[in-house]
Amino acid sequence: MTTSHNKRLIIVSNRLPFSVHETDGELDFRESAGGLVTGLRSYLESQEKEDSRLDYVWVGWPGNTVSNAVTEQLKARALAEHRSYPVFLTQEEMDNFYFGFCNRTIWPLFHYFPSYTTYEEELWKHYKRVNEIFCNALVDLTRAGDIVWIHDYHLMLLPGMLKAKSPHIPIGFFLHIPFPTFEVFRLLPVRWRREILDGILGADLIGYHTYDYSNAFLQSVLRILGYEHHLGRITLPSRIVRVETFPMGIDFEKIHTAIHDPEVQQERDDLKKTLTDVKVVLSVDRLDYSKGILNRLHGFEILLRTNPQFREKVVLIMVVVPSRIGVEHYELMKKQIEEIVGRINGQFGSVNWTPVIYQFRHLSFKPLTALYSLCDVALVTPLRDGMNLVSKEYVATRSDQTGVLVLSEMAGSAKELGEAIIINPNNWEEIAEALKEALEMPLEEQKRRNQIMQTRLRRYDVVRWANDFVGHLLAMHSEQERFYAKLLPASMRERIIHEYEHSTKRLILLDYDGTLVPFARKPHLATPSADVLRLLRTLSGDPANTVVLISGRDKKTLEGWFGRIPINMVAEHGAWLKKQDGDWRTLKQQANDWKPRILPILELYADRLPGAFVEEKDHSLAWHYRAADPEQGRILAGELMDHLSSFTANINVQVLQGSKVVELRSSGINKGVAGMRWLSKEQYDFILAIGDDWTDEDLFAVLPDTAYSIRVGVTNTQARYNFRNPSDTLQLLESLIHSIRIGVGQHEGPMR
Ligand code: UDP
Ligand code: G6P
Repeated sequence: MTTSHNKRLIIVSNRLPFSVHETDGELDFRESAGGLVTGLRSYLESQEKEDSRLDYVWVGWPGNTVSNAVTEQLKARALAEHRSYPVFLTQEEMDNFYFGFCNRTIWPLFHYFPSYTTYEEELWKHYKRVNEIFCNALVDLTRAGDIVWIHDYHLMLLPGMLKAKSPHIPIGFFLHIPFPTFEVFRLLPVRWRREILDGILGADLIGYHTYDYSNAFLQSVLRILGYEHHLGRITLPSRIVRVETFPMGIDFEKIHTAIHDPEVQQERDDLKKTLTDVKVVLSVDRLDYSKGILNRLHGFEILLRTNPQFREKVVLIMVVVPSRIGVEHYELMKKQIEEIVGRINGQFGSVNWTPVIYQFRHLSFKPLTALYSLCDVALVTPLRDGMNLVSKEYVATRSDQTGVLVLSEMAGSAKELGEAIIINPNNWEEIAEALKEALEMPLEEQKRRNQIMQTRLRRYDVVRWANDFVGHLLAMHSEQERFYAKLLPASMRERIIHEYEHSTKRLILLDYDGTLVPFARKPHLATPSADVLRLLRTLSGDPANTVVLISGRDKKTLEGWFGRIPINMVAEHGAWLKKQDGDWRTLKQQANDWKPRILPILELYADRLPGAFVEEKDHSLAWHYRAADPEQGRILAGELMDHLSSFTANINVQVLQGSKVVELRSSGINKGVAGMRWLSKEQYDFILAIGDDWTDEDLFAVLPDTAYSIRVGVTNTQARYNFRNPSDTLQLLESLIHSIRIGVGQHEGPMR
């Protein structure tokens, strides 16, 4: 573990490893159910066993409301016995948050049950409110050096809320359920889906169980928020976030060796006595419609109907763990299960044989492993499941490597357990056939398959999973901090202002889009605000200043917006130049004969993509796609770049890919060359250059060492500093102007 003594891992999940029940003022702590808790608990226990230096605390809801009289006692016991910090919720909050938005909106939708999904504003409000409650608890609890790891769909807004309040704490987020495809995710109202994505993106590292979920999330981020990614790294306006796949493992050694425990052996022997001369099929899940329990029963029923040779020879043990009682679809499911179990037992059972042994209860580790080790087949048929640890645990317990796993392709674990008999749970006949195959599979084949799966499960176990996640989180956080270190610090800001105030000949080079104003969906909408115009007018009105607006825009646009301000302007990245008191002129003669040949190609690509358009400038052409479908835009931009590279190989033209634009212009023109028109002619005692794009890097490269260069956006740059966004630029310019005003008063106007 890479953590040191003073680092503390703060695990945050809705569910704590225990649920508390209060009876007559007495507190009873019961083990919680579910993969999230099992996984994290195994990880933390293994760390304790290894006497690791990992210090941790688990923050979450204690599972019930308790009276005020016992909250202090509960807090003390939770901390002492479970290293947990309870977050209390009222009954109303539980009803609307946990039983409401979490389990009647997100759970069904993310498991592809849109018809079970409710969309109620009241539930959403409570979801936000409870995320805030968790955020406040964390703000109180965290201290410098802590790492916060937030888990699951109950707390998707929390990373963003916490990042806003504690920007320097590393925040990880892991989703234990599937992230649905865009078409399903978009069923959420626009505001909710945006806020959920923004919330998750507050984390520095975001983890999913499978590549499919990671990709689905990245696709929604692109299509809904417009952020592209490169190999899972998303560059947000002021941060970089990483999305990675970490398939959760199990505590392999603990499970694999559990059968040697005398208590487990005893339990297994007792069970065996009641199950003589039959093969045993096991089914274990929480009560949940996503688990495909009914499909499994139908499959078993078909097996018995179509294969009479199995009657009296096979038993299905079905353990259903009570879960989310109070949500209507869960209650309905329970009734349906009981009906079908009754039907199968009634139809096929005999005095000596009950085909389905049904139990509605939670098993603790030892009886559960005894059951795993006893059963010949495990039947795991979820209709959707983020991971499914039961399937992994079953394979791991088989110390003699016998046993057959029948597994749904809809479980995340199917990606790692390909040697199981993989089935589509919607096809009941397929389940029946798979059961037959499993019951008849020769021992050698069982061992061959299990050996491969066990090797894989042993290698990527739960400790590796968690360490991998935390390791990546710390690495990501260090990278973020390196970027933060380049953000213009207050001391340097003061110094710039001071030097500005005490200089007499200044050069100020400013890019426009993304530097003075944010990007808009269409370029013509990104007009200068009254503030921007006032700042530029005041700055260029100071005779000590040479202000150059150095942009990729065409001269007509610049003239329209800034023509009445006495300012120097460079258009089309340096193709055109206008001195403060002069006219537009070209910097050097350029051949434009390539334009008529290239224009039709760009137009063809614009026709293929609604929202894309071509901008023709005097010495350049641009294909814009900011207003188009972001995903198709990205693909088509790549194709266009390829297409153009063969066309432009023998002509003097550069092809450049900028922010949602592909641009072509004559070679030899760039902002660096343009900037030299001023830099090489005069001596300045103060130089400031601000830009946001890689085209501004050409300018930064030609500046003397004494110049102040700032790139807007969190990205690699040769500029000396970074700004987060255009408003940082405006604030600095405002301060520069202000410093002179104060200076005027103090020094009786020596500068003017
Ligand atoms: N589990 C348990 N007792 C039971 C049934 C299940 O402790 O009676 C545990 C099981 O060992 C597994 C977890 O609950 O670790 C279920 O995780 P899974 O990922 O399969 O499904 P989830 O409930 O998280 O949807
Ligand atoms: C799944 C979820 C967990 C949840 C568990 C049990 O594994 O991913 O977040 O804790 O089910 O559900 P419950 O509603 O009882 O917490």
